[in-house]
Amino acid sequence: MSDWVDVAPEGSLANGEHVVVDVDGVDVAVFMVDGHYYAVEDACTHDGAEIASGRLDGCEIICPRHGARFCLKTGAVLSPPAYEDLATFSTRVRDGRIQVRDERWD
Ligand code: FES
Repeated sequence: MSDWVDVAPEGSLANGEHVVVDVDGVDVAVFMVDGHYYAVEDACTHDGAEIASGRLDGCEIICPRHGARFCLKTGAVLSPPAYEDLATFSTRVRDGRIQVRDERWD
């Protein structure tokens, strides 16, 4: 089972801000939207662009390279040219720290 990885102090991300952390060798983008934390792999499933540098539209992220749109809550792809969902990761706040964990291989 993978361990929880420290992201940032709770309260350090303003609404719509994100931080990218290395989780077991995978770049994971953790966003704060309306008081909730959402974590997705920072690689567009279309052609690998760093999705975190795209524009946020509510809980949706728009890829900066070709404009594919994804749901941050579920990772679901919402518009082409991407056709595969983003990987998502569990988040939590523990002892005043935002944390993330990769549970895909547990
Ligand atoms: S790399 Fe993201 S839409 Fe092409």
